[in-house]
Amino acid sequence: MKRILVTGGAGFVGANFVHYIFEAQKDLHIIILDKMTYAGNKKNVSDLLGDRVQLVIGDICDVPLVNKLMSRVDAVVHFAAESHNDNSLEDPLPFVESNIWGTYTLIQSAVKYNTRFHHISTDEVFGELPLRNPISGVGDKFTSNSPYRPSSPYAATKASSDLLVRSWVRSFGLQATISNCSNNYGPYQYVEKFIPRQITNILSGVRPKLYGDGRNVRDWIHTWDHSAAIWSILKYGKIGETYLIGADGEMSNRDVLTLILKLMGQPVDAFDVVANRPGHDMRYAIDVSKIQSELGWKPQYTNFENGLRNTIEWYQENADCWHADKYAVESRYRQRGQ
Ligand code: NAD
Ligand code: DAU
Repeated sequence: MKRILVTGGAGFVGANFVHYIFEAQKDLHIIILDKMTYAGNKKNVSDLLGDRVQLVIGDICDVPLVNKLMSRVDAVVHFAAESHNDNSLEDPLPFVESNIWGTYTLIQSAVKYNTRFHHISTDEVFGELPLRNPISGVGDKFTSNSPYRPSSPYAATKASSDLLVRSWVRSFGLQATISNCSNNYGPYQYVEKFIPRQITNILSGVRPKLYGDGRNVRDWIHTWDHSAAIWSILKYGKIGETYLIGADGEMSNRDVLTLILKLMGQPVDAFDVVANRPGHDMRYAIDVSKIQSELGWKPQYTNFENGLRNTIEWYQENADCWHADKYAVESRYRQRGQ
């Protein structure tokens, strides 16, 4: 593999992946295709642009552009998407366009040029799990055989894109793999999301905001572990297979917020409870046994407190990456009562 196309490489998870492969694969040339929506930020990758990394600003729904880039690469890792649940509840159309139509455009082109394709998806396609039984500790986790039960328009469009990819493998010989990962955290995440929102609220003198009673559980993974897992799948994954990625990082939102407050020297009750998200999924949890046993991948950054401390430091040191957008993001949340 000499040249790779990374869609959505100026967003959070995509930019971290580009940094990861830039360091780990010194012979690889990387083309980033990104529309630069509100969530894309050139600063996320500007330190890498040059001989080995090219940024093309454009839409994954643009057929001639996608074909031109596809003809130049050996593989695609497809991150580009509208990614925020709350936005999808307010205006689902961009999610249908980018997540479904955009994926359709890319896989048609990948078949045409016989290009290896890796599709990035989410655990949210499986819907919610019940809370873990506090006495027995027993609670199911998602596996690659779990049924698709998306709750939000965002999750439904990601589920649709997964199904398109699966059927293109079977019907048209698309050389594709799929991964469904749990909640990522780390540097470069847009300030609308839970962890960066609370960190930057505290840094801006605003009280953090918790939806509902805060018992909802997310299964946190450091985005650098996600990057390494994607590379393993791209190299060693079996065509047509779906791999779930996670790091056994289940925590309630309330516990995550308490830890952020503690690490930032705030009283643990210094937050506001705000309106809950309609249709808010209760719990996500990933069974990682398949990727671990078949590909030998294991997460490395499993100390959540250390990872969170480093993430807080990143937001402290990189205010130029988030400061300009913070006020508008909070105004939008305020209008929704959140
Ligand atoms: P993000 O919103 O931070 O970044 C998305 C990027 O895609 C942005 O740079 C945006 O400009 C670009 N983009 C959007 N529409 C586009 C289009 N039509 N054409 C070209 N570029 C477009 O999102 P993220 O959190 O980095 O998520 C990236 C991918 O990873 C998504 O597919 C998401 O479903 C998946 N994922 C995210 C997480 C997570 O916790 N963030 C977990 C699992 C899976
Ligand atoms: O599970 C993977 C998914 O994780 C990805 O597919 C999505 O792209 C990504 O956005 C994320 O989805 P969530 O909806 O879980 O993430 P979010 O950061 O929006 O919220 C995390 C939890 O925190 C969720 O239970 C809602 C809650 N929350 C969120 C915000 C923004 C709050 O309590 N307060 C907040 O201010």
